Amino acid sequence: MSRRASSSGQQRRAHGASPAHAPTRVARPRSGLGTVAVLGGGNMGLALVRGLLEVGEGAATRILVSSREVSSLRERLAHLPVEIAGNNREAVAPADVVVLAVKPQILPQVLMEVRGHLRPGASVVSIAAGVPTSVLERSLGIEPEGVPSSIGVVRAMPNVAASVRASATAIARGRSCRPVDLERARRLLSAVGLVLEVDEELMDAVTGLSGTGPLYLFLILEGLSDAGVKVGLSRTVSSELAIQTLVGAAQLVRATGEHPAKLRDLVTSPGGTAITALHSLERSGLKAMLLDAVEAATKRSQELGAHWRPRERDPVPSDTEARPA
Ligand SMILES: NC(=O)c1ccc[n+]([C@@H]2O[C@H](COP(=O)([O-])OP(=O)(O)OC[C@H]3O[C@@H](n4cnc5c(N)ncnc54)[C@H](OP(=O)(O)O)[C@@H]3O)[C@@H](O)[C@H]2O)c1
Repeated sequence: MSRRASSSGQQRRAHGASPAHAPTRVARPRSGLGTVAVLGGGNMGLALVRGLLEVGEGAATRILVSSREVSSLRERLAHLPVEIAGNNREAVAPADVVVLAVKPQILPQVLMEVRGHLRPGASVVSIAAGVPTSVLERSLGIEPEGVPSSIGVVRAMPNVAASVRASATAIARGRSCRPVDLERARRLLSAVGLVLEVDEELMDAVTGLSGTGPLYLFLILEGLSDAGVKVGLSRTVSSELAIQTLVGAAQLVRATGEHPAKLRDLVTSPGGTAITALHSLERSGLKAMLLDAVEAATKRSQELGAHWRPRERDPVPSDTEARPA
């Protein structure tokens, strides 16, 4: 089935009995990841390495990490069963899965360095924010049109909670992506949290919601913690209660599968505290603020991504075509 044929509108259709509007939970992989090369030993790269190590046997048989500064990497990876590669080419050569975990602005130079050095059959998983799979494929010399490619590309957007294995991650297929690439990306990223598949054009929306999402909730937690102090609780008690309330509410929504509005109704008794607080929140426009914030972050992600778009135009307009008359 073609990539497009399985899509429903913009959102990828779920398999089986799942509703058409839901993103696909990617099928369980049948095998481990083999050798994984992580290019970029920063926050996200090392979060993935630690996640894979915590999953343990069966996740990856061998992990290689490359970074700009090898000595500090050595310190951060001390005592972990991970190999430090001398450079990016050395890292990708034996890898079944190559993770691109450098900053987007560094990525072109890294792609140029490893182009032609990946082993046939390898899967490339990029977590670089905003970089389209078409740019990755072209930079790596993968031509997915016509002959099937021997290297497949998947793009992912995790969030900062990957460092505690609680990321909400979306993945999207490149045109070169084969079932094995998608399976590997799911296995890799599920080591650090939840993984859902969406169509690539929704990656800016994902960035606006779950990529940037921890920030919204940090702010809400900060506000709740301050509020507890304002009404007389100690900072410690207030923060702990706020954190557990957030985690508990999220767990309840997930466990019941109910719409949050329905659960809100359940806790809102006539003349009680909840309806009084709700009135205050509605007057302040909390929900509208969240809608605005996610929309603004999505637009910003689109703006930042525009940087990559001219390189996607095919054919490139001639000098005269590009210039206004
Ligand atoms: N942080 C997040 O919450 C988040 C969420 C989603 C996606 N992402 C994406 O994840 C990627 C990594 O982000 P991060 O937060 O982990 O950044 P980071 O902590 O700065 O890590 C990037 C790493 O890449 C290394 N590096 C620089 N040049 C390199 C080269 N030529 N070859 C190999 N490694 C090189 C850097 O080394 P030096 O420090 O020595 O320069 C650094 O260790 C980014 O593309 C970002 O868009 C991040």
